[in-house]
Amino acid sequence: MKIAVLSDIHEGLNRKNTGMDIVSQLKKWIEINSPEVFIISGDMTAGPKKSLNLLNHLQEEFTKMKLLFVHGNHDIYHGDSKSAYDMLLEFPGNLGNGPVELNDSWVVIGDGGWYDYTFGIEGYTEEQFSVGTFNDFTWPDKANAHWPSSDQCETKRYLEKLEGWLKDFQGKKIIMVTHVVPFPRYIQVKNEPSWDFFNAMMGSKRFGELADKYQVKKYIFGHIHTRYHEHYNGIEIICNPLGYYPHEWNSANAKEEIFSTIKLIEI
Ligand SMILES: [Fe+2]
Ligand SMILES: [Fe+2]
Repeated sequence: MKIAVLSDIHEGLNRKNTGMDIVSQLKKWIEINSPEVFIISGDMTAGPKKSLNLLNHLQEEFTKMKLLFVHGNHDIYHGDSKSAYDMLLEFPGNLGNGPVELNDSWVVIGDGGWYDYTFGIEGYTEEQFSVGTFNDFTWPDKANAHWPSSDQCETKRYLEKLEGWLKDFQGKKIIMVTHVVPFPRYIQVKNEPSWDFFNAMMGSKRFGELADKYQVKKYIFGHIHTRYHEHYNGIEIICNPLGYYPHEWNSANAKEEIFSTIKLIEI
């Protein structure tokens, strides 16, 4: 079974900045490669309505392909992120609706996830991370995502939900998916407080602990716009973001970047 993996498409921003139609290139790639499953691990675009429309559009276009999705922080940018989260559940392939069994042995378990400052650097308080301002820069989620409770409580909610599902499917071959980062290995520490401060908002090591505890086979995430595909802790790790044009792209046009970035794995 061929599974395509991509995250952080940021459709709106990349379309505006490249002047190119990102979705049509994505469709071209799918037509040529015809994966049976496509896993998009968050940051489709900004705001739930646009992300939902894009997901529905893609799934309607390729009815034989199973499109699976977890939301990113940008997908739930809304005055009420809980209602944005619920709106995105209308997409049947949203893993927040529950695990998806691919065949007798493999199951995909995931949800967007959030961050609880477990990747935060020392010397700052939870209060400072919760405000999210360093010098004159404030982490954009603070202005654009509005959850009913604290970052830590929201993260805990995801952890409990995911652990319940992981327990249910113990013994199966599990592909775990979040948008946020599960292991400190993927956190870039630059020893510059103006960068490192915001590592607190990259994810939670608790997701990685769950992956270890339930011995997942593969872990797919996004959020950091750096690409990884390797084995770590006995887990095949795939972080495969498209990222922002131009500084995070290797090529100047959308077709080349999309075609060279999407990863195909086989189970
Ligand atoms: Fe992103
Ligand atoms: Fe993100």
